[in-house]
Amino acid sequence: MHIIEAAAELVYRVEFNRFVVLLPELPVFVLAVGGYGFKASRHFFYAGNHVTLTRKSSRMDLQTVGTFFNTAWSVYDTALERNYMYHREIYAGVLDQLQTCPAGQYTLLDLGCGSAKTFAPVLAQHPPLRYVGVDLSATALAEAATWLRPHGFGVELHEGDLFDFIQQTPPASFDVVFAGFALHHLLKADKQTAFHHAHRTLKPGGFFLMPDAVRYEDETRDLYLERYVRNVQTTWTALSPPQMEAVIEHITGQDYPERPSTLARMAKEAGFSRSQELARFGHHATWRFDA
Ligand SMILES: C[S@@+](CC[C@H](N)C(=O)[O-])C[C@H]1O[C@@H](n2cnc3c(N)ncnc32)[C@H](O)[C@@H]1O
Repeated sequence: MHIIEAAAELVYRVEFNRFVVLLPELPVFVLAVGGYGFKASRHFFYAGNHVTLTRKSSRMDLQTVGTFFNTAWSVYDTALERNYMYHREIYAGVLDQLQTCPAGQYTLLDLGCGSAKTFAPVLAQHPPLRYVGVDLSATALAEAATWLRPHGFGVELHEGDLFDFIQQTPPASFDVVFAGFALHHLLKADKQTAFHHAHRTLKPGGFFLMPDAVRYEDETRDLYLERYVRNVQTTWTALSPPQMEAVIEHITGQDYPERPSTLARMAKEAGFSRSQELARFGHHATWRFDA
């Protein structure tokens, strides 16, 4: 199964008018050189239909994810308000973990901070000395400033790609690296790189805390997504039909949750000494990785 999944990341995306097919590289190559007026470009015509051939990036689809979280922030906000993703329970557990750091003295890097709407009151209860948030969405960051700044601790917000940001972060610069529901958009190789840089960025004794979409050990990505989509369709009832469609498209197109054993292996390879799944709520689990 792991080999099949790895192979599935090496596919071309062929858009055939309204049909989208994912094909392994070889058949597409054969199709390409097999005739039909193909020329070496990203666009060609096949049997009169306009076909777009795009090499699937080895990176996450930054533009699609960024557009979703810029234009559909109110949809995500409804999910927060209605607690569809168990933010209340999950962030109560996050508070417990932060309380292992001395209040007012620890530094925290929040990767994919979003609006920090649920995190801000938790941080207010156990404030850091310095909070640094990074996110693709300017919409979310503008809101984050309003939730975080009144609490009096140091706040820096950066608009950009968390993957680039963490690679440029100086070594041993934070006590806590936090990523809430953000890393599941990265493909496997980039998750491994993110783990490596999270470890490098942590001070000795620091930890990486990650509530996120996590599969069951024996579950394929497809089965996980099916389970998640069924849950959205039956419980996210405050969404309008177009909003629900946008959420389902986002999940099925951009979510790459891992198995528990994969997360533990990635953390070990990055140098973390201990990995623990602390809690599981629905489709999500909170993990702590100690440097
Ligand atoms: C599901 S929201 C989670 C927001 C918040 N952390 C929470 O717990 O509610 C995912 C956030 O990650 C951000 N994000 C996803 N990929 C990113 C990337 N490569 N760089 C920066 N931000 C990213 C999105 O813009 C979005 O705000």
